[in-house]
Amino acid sequence: MQVVVLNGVNLDVLGRRDPSIYGGLTLNELETQIYEWAHELTLNVRCRQTNSEGEYIGWIHDANRDVDGVIVNPGAWTHYSYAIHDALELIEVPIVEVHLSNVDEREPWRRHSVIEDLAAHRVIGKGPEGYREALEFLAGRA
Ligand code: DQA
Repeated sequence: MQVVVLNGVNLDVLGRRDPSIYGGLTLNELETQIYEWAHELTLNVRCRQTNSEGEYIGWIHDANRDVDGVIVNPGAWTHYSYAIHDALELIEVPIVEVHLSNVDEREPWRRHSVIEDLAAHRVIGKGPEGYREALEFLAGRA
């Protein structure tokens, strides 16, 4: 099973962002964990991150052709990018939405996700472990 993990805007600066909200891992450390969990679950995973919305959308278009499941954390785009919503709408494989922080208990504008209607599963506020739950869900084990 092939899975792609698409981390969006500002997730490259994890480690420098408030650790009480996002935890202390860098993106590189987070991706290392994801690869380890995927290995345990016998999933093939590719992790990607960009700060460019257009590039992110291109990867979503590619995902439809190449993978069996998609894990997305679009960062702040989650809350307003209808372009990402429309790209994800074309995806025929399961989509899992992950947020490291508990977006429901922060500023009111973070409570709204423009992609949640498309997600087969959502994981919020579980830190890096949220990606493990997302992988387990796609592996049929959550
Ligand atoms: C985030 C939550 C978003 O509100 C925020 O803009 C991010 C990260 C998370 O993983 O908790 O950049 O998606």
